[in-house]
Amino acid sequence: MVESRWSRIPIERNIAMELVRVTEAAAMSATRYMGTGDKELVDQAAVDAMRFTLGSIAMDGVVVIGEGEKDEAPRLYNGEVIGNGSPPPVDIAVDPIDGTTLLSKGLPGAIAVVALAARGAMSCPKEVFYMNKIAVGPEAQGAIDINATVGDNLKSIAKGMRRKVNELTVVVLDRPRHAELLEDIRSAGARVKLISDGDVAAGIAAALPDTGVDVLMGVGGTPEGVITAAAIRCTGGEIQCKAWPRDEAERSGAIAAGLDLDKVYGTLDLVSGDDVFFAATGASDGELLRGVRYFGGGARTQSLVMRSRSGTIRWIDSTHDFTRLDKVRLGD
Ligand code: FBP
Repeated sequence: MVESRWSRIPIERNIAMELVRVTEAAAMSATRYMGTGDKELVDQAAVDAMRFTLGSIAMDGVVVIGEGEKDEAPRLYNGEVIGNGSPPPVDIAVDPIDGTTLLSKGLPGAIAVVALAARGAMSCPKEVFYMNKIAVGPEAQGAIDINATVGDNLKSIAKGMRRKVNELTVVVLDRPRHAELLEDIRSAGARVKLISDGDVAAGIAAALPDTGVDVLMGVGGTPEGVITAAAIRCTGGEIQCKAWPRDEAERSGAIAAGLDLDKVYGTLDLVSGDDVFFAATGASDGELLRGVRYFGGGARTQSLVMRSRSGTIRWIDSTHDFTRLDKVRLGD
């Protein structure tokens, strides 16, 4: 973490309560395009709504996990300064829709997500597109080791959760790269839940009780790993990640850039400091969050809002009146 005066000053305000307006706006905007089959459209709608709402928050924010580099992503790009410029100085990680393909097909599990922490608190191996991840909830904190075998991890997690291995459910992205992982999980005797996309919601679900999943394992996006870590800083639990280069070119590029491919990124390496704020809103219906439901003249949303310092986890159901919201926006 970059040591600055601000990183030592507690952020007293619960900014997550303001971030929920950002994820609600992104989810409502993106779900207008649910089922269009156009993931870019879904993403753009969420990005625009998120950027507009984030801009109104009193903070000196820098997007550190965004839509990509400035030349390829004109909005919410990495390094973009956002907020009204007043303190606190913060890092922002956005995933306007995690599961754009899901939402574009009308499938369950797409969410809008924002995480925020003190300036310099978020970091990850950006040189690689993917990381290998393992994430668990508070009962299994201290029980995982990404360098150990899948079987040993599952035994140790089961012990922490006072269960048998065959009473654990491991959520895994359904990808050919996970063939060996699946074999290992199955031969250890644990249950598997395959998902087609959305390992942020899956990682959060693994860290929360009574969601039906206990562990996230496998290779997913690097930015998604940081966002999941921010959520886990709030829920309790643990995530460990390792850079997973896609091919030889990415591997040698990462090494040339000075990346240590053996480094294990723990929860605190990904998101440090005492002040972490997190908000997510369901876009399509999922096991973690209900999706946006329209009614005549408005919509209902469900969100998860968390703060690391207090450990408060809020589930917020909101009703939005489009006619009045338009008046607020237009300043009538
Ligand atoms: P997008 O919403 O950006 O498409 O990401 C969805 C997702 O499933 C993430 O949750 C996950 O980390 C990543 O894609 C996995 O990447 P890939 O689809 O290339 O395996």
